[in-house]
Amino acid sequence: MKKLIAILTLALIVCACSKTPTFEEQLEELGYSSEDITLIQSLSEEHQALFSDAYKEDLLSFVKDGLFREEKLEEYLKFDGLFEKGRMMRLVNDGILTMENAGKLSRLYQSDHFAEKNESLYLQYMNEYSDLEEMMEMVNSLRYKELYTDIRPVDMSKGDLILVNKYFSLMENYYPDDLVDVDPSLGKGQLSKKTYDAFLDLHEAAYRQGYNLRVVSAFRSYSYQDGLYNKYLKVDPKEVVDTYSARPGHSEHQTGMAIDVSLPGVSLDDFWKTDAAKWLNENCAHYGFIIRYPAEKIDITGYMEEPWHIRYLGQEVAEDVVRHGMTYDEYYAVFIDQ
Ligand code: DAL
Ligand code: ZN
Repeated sequence: MKKLIAILTLALIVCACSKTPTFEEQLEELGYSSEDITLIQSLSEEHQALFSDAYKEDLLSFVKDGLFREEKLEEYLKFDGLFEKGRMMRLVNDGILTMENAGKLSRLYQSDHFAEKNESLYLQYMNEYSDLEEMMEMVNSLRYKELYTDIRPVDMSKGDLILVNKYFSLMENYYPDDLVDVDPSLGKGQLSKKTYDAFLDLHEAAYRQGYNLRVVSAFRSYSYQDGLYNKYLKVDPKEVVDTYSARPGHSEHQTGMAIDVSLPGVSLDDFWKTDAAKWLNENCAHYGFIIRYPAEKIDITGYMEEPWHIRYLGQEVAEDVVRHGMTYDEYYAVFIDQ
């Protein structure tokens, strides 16, 4: 009898020892919490099996994410690490991220032209353009819209960094409140105080190089611009006038922060031929100004080249605009109007 009990006990021990652990026990053993295990068990058997050999924190983090869709799991794994996780999961869920366009999308999100608020427009236009940066530039500067359409009021809260262009207009009654007179020895007109102070520094530096920069046109009121634009309309068709004159409310000159500069005895149209124009182009950012309408950006600004029109932004921003090789239209969208 004793022998029998011993045999039975041994059999029980052997039996207990050789019993294969359940999947749940295996997961427990690997370090998954009961909460994790419930989640894992909600997956298909094939996907559950992915968790059976080690503690897989990364894999689990997909399952725990609110964006998780089980049928996309293989794709999440394929593109893991290529983008920030939430972005990648969203792109996969929406069927946007594929092996074919992963490289292009990765360049899109890493580009310094990338502005979060324009993400859906980039995705919309991405396949219409072979050059990604060109497409982003176009979207950022709103050039995917017809010029002078969907016009919005200038966001005055941006202070010295306001954007005035063919999509953003100033009120008819807007006047800068800090206009000062330009010294007659330097030209004519009025400028915002900060702009004038910066111009004095610019003038001094240019003068040291032998260039006596003159203020040819400075602040222009809405009604003055209206008169100017209508005067041009008597000479040229509207499509042509729009390439060289802003419509009233759309001129940077109304801000008091734009200046047309030239040299004594040199017309604006001839200024580009001078060494002073070259110097201005290379040095004005240091004094807080940008050349607002460069030749290579006609398609973006909607204006022909104006090597004489400078816009005050302050040194830091002006230098940054130049460093990025952007128009202010685009820079504003990417860095100022977040
Ligand atoms: N000529 C510039 C674009 C203006 O009219 O403001
Ligand atoms: Zn101008």
